[in-house]
Amino acid sequence: MPKMDIGREISSPSPKVLADPYAFYAQLRKMGPVIPIKHPVLGKGYLITRNEDVFSGLKDPRLVNNRANAVEGGAGLLDQWWIPRILRLLQKIMLMQDEPDHRRLRDLIHKAFTPRMIERLTPRIDELVDELLNKAAKKPVVDLIADFALPLSLNLISEMLGVPEEERLGFFRAQSRLVEGLAGANVAGLVLAFPTAIGLARFFGRLLALRRERPGDDLTSALIRAEQAGDRFTEDELVSMIFMLLLAGHDTSMNFIGNGTLALLDHPDQLQKLYDRPELIDSAVEELLRFSGPVGHAAPRFAREDIEIQGHRIPKGSLVLMLFESANRDEAAFVDPGRLDIERTPNRHVALGYGIHYCVGAPLARYEGRSAFLKLVQRFPKMRLAVPRQELIWRKNLAMHGLKSLPMVLSPSAGR
Ligand code: HEM
Repeated sequence: MPKMDIGREISSPSPKVLADPYAFYAQLRKMGPVIPIKHPVLGKGYLITRNEDVFSGLKDPRLVNNRANAVEGGAGLLDQWWIPRILRLLQKIMLMQDEPDHRRLRDLIHKAFTPRMIERLTPRIDELVDELLNKAAKKPVVDLIADFALPLSLNLISEMLGVPEEERLGFFRAQSRLVEGLAGANVAGLVLAFPTAIGLARFFGRLLALRRERPGDDLTSALIRAEQAGDRFTEDELVSMIFMLLLAGHDTSMNFIGNGTLALLDHPDQLQKLYDRPELIDSAVEELLRFSGPVGHAAPRFAREDIEIQGHRIPKGSLVLMLFESANRDEAAFVDPGRLDIERTPNRHVALGYGIHYCVGAPLARYEGRSAFLKLVQRFPKMRLAVPRQELIWRKNLAMHGLKSLPMVLSPSAGR
């Protein structure tokens, strides 16, 4: 392999890696199951490349999510007095906590995020998908991200959380700037993100004030009620919870719909099969999650003590990054992993995580994918890219892997 700085590629990927991360991950798997790196911000670390080790790593209590539990005085990059409070709150999200704090927060969210809520949402998901596709069908060229995947995922999670319509796009723009600013994880990017962060803090202030004054049938009001009922839940935790749900709830789903649609366009035989046999939609969603799931790697874990993985010693305090997209293409776990097969069984992918941090929104994410892919394929079986494949532009982030835009022609008569 030509010499490359793997730690840097992971934190700020080059255009080549962005365009085809799977080739990069295949090279890493060839190098071995555990690859030492130097992460530009988080320091000495190890990449875990194989399916089996990613699954066992996600269950290993010696790998923790809160760095302070692994490193003495282990404050994170954001834990500094000069950083705006809203950014420091990002470190309080459930995904960066260990037991017992994580369990306390997760129990609370389960109280509010009930199966009944998801059930109630499914007709609304179908309705939104239809509305957006009706509009898109009138255009000669649509951007599947801006015209479909983004409004679908953003409006859904916003409706769930009771975010007023006029605030949604502003939130989306601010969080995109923030995620891009923080992607390279360096101090300059962080400082440049301050004004955006302050705007976001005001947004959350307005949302909480609104839902306290006019509680509704939404998750934010439910979380406020839980806080008021005396659950051990601070105001900071409330804001960080809503922040995480808004971020996790729309960005991943948006990227999933974009990546999954592209995978179907790249595999016309599978697109045709789904058109002919719509009953395959559930296994198609699982395969699209495996094949082009949008979360490239897990949130950082840290070794609480010296550990050993596949004969490699990982010293206490080290960063451990489990590569989901690599695990999902591991030749040792899947037959012909580079082939999209919407009937694949078994399909033990890790696109939605595993263990105590398994995706809270998994049923919702699956239903969104189900409705979006099925209706797209059934309504527009002749859909195609409107630009050459190599001209597609990817977001500069391997962890949140997705397209900036996906220009498409939905049907030969669209827009006439
Ligand atoms: C296709 C869409 C989605 C994908 C691929 C996805 C993927 C993931 C993954 C891989 C994790 C675990 C990360 C880790 O262990 O480091 C996770 C956690 C999480 N996801 Fe999702 N997610 C999706 C949609 C959603 C939605 C719609 C919501 C909310 C409504 C959501 C909320 C969460 C939360 C709150 C966590 C943290 C759970 C914890 O720390 O216990 N996700 N997700």
